[in-house]
Amino acid sequence: MRVLFTGGSGKAGRHAVEYLLEKGHRVVNVDRMPLDLAGVDNRIADVTDAGQMFDVMGAYAAFDEMEPGTGVPKFDAVVHFAAIPRLLLTSDNECYRVNTIGTYNVIDAAVKFGVRKIVFASSETTYGVCFADGERKPEYLPVDEEHPVVPEDSYAMSKVVNEVTARSFQRRSGFDIYGLRINNVIEPHEYAEKFPAFMEDPSLRRRNIFAYIDARDLGQMVDRCLATDGLGYEVFNVSNDDHSVGETTCELISRFYEGVPACEMGERETFYSNQKAKDLLGFQPEHSWRQYIDG
Ligand SMILES: NC(=O)c1ccc[n+]([C@@H]2O[C@H](COP(=O)([O-])OP(=O)(O)OC[C@H]3O[C@@H](n4cnc5c(N)ncnc54)[C@H](O)[C@@H]3O)[C@@H](O)[C@H]2O)c1
Repeated sequence: MRVLFTGGSGKAGRHAVEYLLEKGHRVVNVDRMPLDLAGVDNRIADVTDAGQMFDVMGAYAAFDEMEPGTGVPKFDAVVHFAAIPRLLLTSDNECYRVNTIGTYNVIDAAVKFGVRKIVFASSETTYGVCFADGERKPEYLPVDEEHPVVPEDSYAMSKVVNEVTARSFQRRSGFDIYGLRINNVIEPHEYAEKFPAFMEDPSLRRRNIFAYIDARDLGQMVDRCLATDGLGYEVFNVSNDDHSVGETTCELISRFYEGVPACEMGERETFYSNQKAKDLLGFQPEHSWRQYIDG
């Protein structure tokens, strides 16, 4: 597929772009800075500027596309990752502005250019646990996509707003628009760097509901979204199958979630359910931290 990918130069995006290139897609990365990766076409643009988003949506990927003399090819899909990726990086209102306006502009331009598959990065933070003031527990376990989304910070608020925006565009267009409620992204080198501390002190992972997503498996998730048509508007939790700490599910529940209703779960099953992605998209995470450090 010919894919326009926003935010591909970032932590999560660069792995997803690499995965898509390996699968044979052509990728145009639209970002404020280029991605230095063989095979990717870069375009410097600001997602908060609607004019620039309309321009890139109707532009050649590179010089080779000018050779046939048949005009600019259409994009088959848009993947939108560009954002301020958490609170406490910019002012709260700037984070909200960039994330909501950026998402509106990208989806608006994609729909008006007739791009029938749009995938966008939402977040686990929509559930309100991650960036809560103090400790907030999930209402039940495992957290699936039916769990209420009531955040209290501007970053997560922007992601909830983006889901509403996306749903509205889907209703009018009838195109496929899938939102990814991504958990904490872990790059390959971070297993050795970070996980020993998580083994020492599992409470470090409480705000992420003890879950994580391998950056390469996130790439697979994006690819599964591109390959799966006809779902309309859907949101998906994106996580690996196991917890990011050494404790079992039972041990974590008795230490951190006493009184929280919980279904029967596997010994190390993630509290951040990825069942919907497995059922509807055929998502099958391939990486676990246990493969990369001596657990
Ligand atoms: N990293 C995580 O753990 C995590 C978890 C959940 C959701 N997400 C979401 O995934 C997406 C990617 O996150 P990330 O961790 O790779 O963040 P990142 O900051 O590493 O990457 C974001 C990219 O977007 C670009 N960008 C920012 N503002 C832009 C603008 N106005 N115009 C064009 N490009 C702009 C940046 O240059 C950067 O390359 C974000 O939407 C983020 O909210 C990330």
